[in-house]
Amino acid sequence: MRSGRLHARATTFDRLLKPVHSWIWGNVERRVQKLLRFGEIEIDGGRDILRAAELTSDPVLRRLYLEHAIDEFRHGLMFRQRAGSVLRELPLRSNRTFQLDWPSAGGHGLDDLQIEKETDGSLLAFLHLSEKAAASRFTIYRDVMQHDPGTRAIFAEILNDERFHMNYTLTHLVRVAPERHRRHLWRARLSRLWKGYLRLATALASAMGALILTIQYFTVLPPFAWLAKRAARKESPGWFPISSERNGSLRRQY
Ligand SMILES: [Fe+2]
Ligand SMILES: [Fe+2]
Repeated sequence: MRSGRLHARATTFDRLLKPVHSWIWGNVERRVQKLLRFGEIEIDGGRDILRAAELTSDPVLRRLYLEHAIDEFRHGLMFRQRAGSVLRELPLRSNRTFQLDWPSAGGHGLDDLQIEKETDGSLLAFLHLSEKAAASRFTIYRDVMQHDPGTRAIFAEILNDERFHMNYTLTHLVRVAPERHRRHLWRARLSRLWKGYLRLATALASAMGALILTIQYFTVLPPFAWLAKRAARKESPGWFPISSERNGSLRRQY
């Protein structure tokens, strides 16, 4: 197993959120959802990196990308298998009808990537930051997983690979863009920040929409319901004769 040259530490932001992560992972059903979601993210990321291996003209990077893609596929399978094991350990009385789209604070964020538009430099900068973020997040997940040694071991193993990814991407970014690697990193940082803002704004807009609709439901609908009930009370019950003008033969629709 590889060990990283740089030892990623969890960021202050991730450390501050540790109680939240602890609460989220503490629930076994949420844990299964998150593991499944992570499995999906890792496999998608692996697919993107495989595409990068096809597109690069740098033979060293191609080999590293292939190795990287294999790692991400393996991580995806590890997460899925673990989700399956945790699910099988769930007591039968447990309510398994949970939704699979529990919002997850992802690891890599490789879903934002459009490989065809990237150069080796910009891709390596993006990958470096993504792997660094994943390593930070997985450090916290490993630490809060005291109650689940199986899942904790998976995070510890994957963390080791993420550190390797974080390191090789930086090393080769400096190699392929010795003059411009800082600029690539800053652009990637700004791009991640912007995409993070967009995600936050979308989530906020969705929450606001739900809130406004709920308020409307309780303030706008009741008067209509009251008017409908009042009109219903005025109606005489049962069948009653209608006027002769409206009582023609049924030869036409209206
Ligand atoms: Fe990974
Ligand atoms: Fe990775």
